Amino acid sequence: MPKSKAGYPKQKPTGLSREKRIKWFQEARFGMFIHWGLYAIPGRGEWVRYHERISNEDYQPFFDEFNPVNYNPVSWARAAKAAGQKYAVMTAKHHDGFCLFDSQVTDYKATNTKAGRDLIREYVDAFRAEGLKVGLYYSLLDWHHPDYPIDIRHPMRATEQSSFGGPAPVATCNKPAGGAEKYRNQPRDFSKYLDYFHAQVRELLTNYGTIDIIWFDFSYDGMRGEKWRATELIKMVRALQPGIIINNRLGGSISSKNQETYAGDFTTPEQIIPPEGIVDENRQPVPWEACLTLNDNWGYTAADRAYKTPKHIIRSIIECVSKNGNALLNVGPNAKGEIPEESLGILSEVGRWLAKNGAGVYGCGLSELPKPEWGRYTRKGKTIYAHVYDMPMGPLNFRGLNGKVSRARLVADGSELKIYQPWNAKEYSDDAFINFPGASLPDEWDTVIALELL
Ligand code: GLC
Repeated sequence: MPKSKAGYPKQKPTGLSREKRIKWFQEARFGMFIHWGLYAIPGRGEWVRYHERISNEDYQPFFDEFNPVNYNPVSWARAAKAAGQKYAVMTAKHHDGFCLFDSQVTDYKATNTKAGRDLIREYVDAFRAEGLKVGLYYSLLDWHHPDYPIDIRHPMRATEQSSFGGPAPVATCNKPAGGAEKYRNQPRDFSKYLDYFHAQVRELLTNYGTIDIIWFDFSYDGMRGEKWRATELIKMVRALQPGIIINNRLGGSISSKNQETYAGDFTTPEQIIPPEGIVDENRQPVPWEACLTLNDNWGYTAADRAYKTPKHIIRSIIECVSKNGNALLNVGPNAKGEIPEESLGILSEVGRWLAKNGAGVYGCGLSELPKPEWGRYTRKGKTIYAHVYDMPMGPLNFRGLNGKVSRARLVADGSELKIYQPWNAKEYSDDAFINFPGASLPDEWDTVIALELL
């Protein structure tokens, strides 16, 4: 096989359909999102420059200081794997413009900091070595680039208040907006920025072997679609990485009949699980991935200890799967390159649960049965997985499944659960029942039962 510059085997063009490209992703169901960059030093989230109106000059000390002495993506990859995550997506560049990779078109990159190396290369190699699929996040916005427009989402914006909701600021800005005038008076050539960003995407998709996902972020107002030269961009992406899957944030309409070339392969609800999954105009399912934080922020936020419980996370993953979706769960490593202890703790609990109960998650999707009163259903082929959250009073009811189930097993230990018709449930002859002895469910977070359909 021919080798690329960096020694990774080159991909052959395959012309895969979306359905084929996305198959592994829809089976994987659970991934790790990694938001990491210079903003880990101020530790007030990745929008810190915006909220506090920090200029390039005032942000420079963080570049000069950046020295993640404990960055060890091998340990991150192992944590992801142990958590049961099957893929990862890491910020190669976020809105602040800082590149974790060794780009030839900028000096604003990790290789020029005290880190002195290409941190994306280490990430890609480490995650791939653990057998995880590898994704890269690339910010379309760039607050550092001299040719990116100063609009209402820019740290140097003129207006005091933008209409943008955005992530909640941890600290609010007390600087007068006037300090930014010199930025706003500079001439800007957006086409130069587009050349730069396309060149960077080319680098990311050429120098690191097979990249499984490219995750662009984000489009807004007039900044969408062809404004990004999106058709041209996608043609390049598909030529360089024929098997890659692309998210929907270049601003196309993935749910419409007339999809643009750049509509993407999957859609990305953020901090929400869509009530009934996502379908297109013809009611056909659209691949989707909910991106979710473990606490309230993407980028490291020292003061944010609002971590969700493992139970909450597990049930959220199940909710996604029950509606044909994926969950991309975020970690925000700190300035030293460490994933916060709290995050690691939750991930390992989730992984412990998935190690026993993953059969009801991986490769599973919508069951087509109505949502049960006690929890949720997922399904893989002829197996329905009952995710039981509430201990029933008396027998556990499976609506409409009488005579349709050949056997029921507790997924965690493979033990038999007897299907029967209780004496007091004669009126519910369409339903199947099982009984849990004792006063509580075997697993209070989610007791998973595999029901084999006849
Ligand atoms: C938003 C935010 C960004 C975050 C992303 C994750 O678009 O701008 O900070 O990276 O969502 O989905």
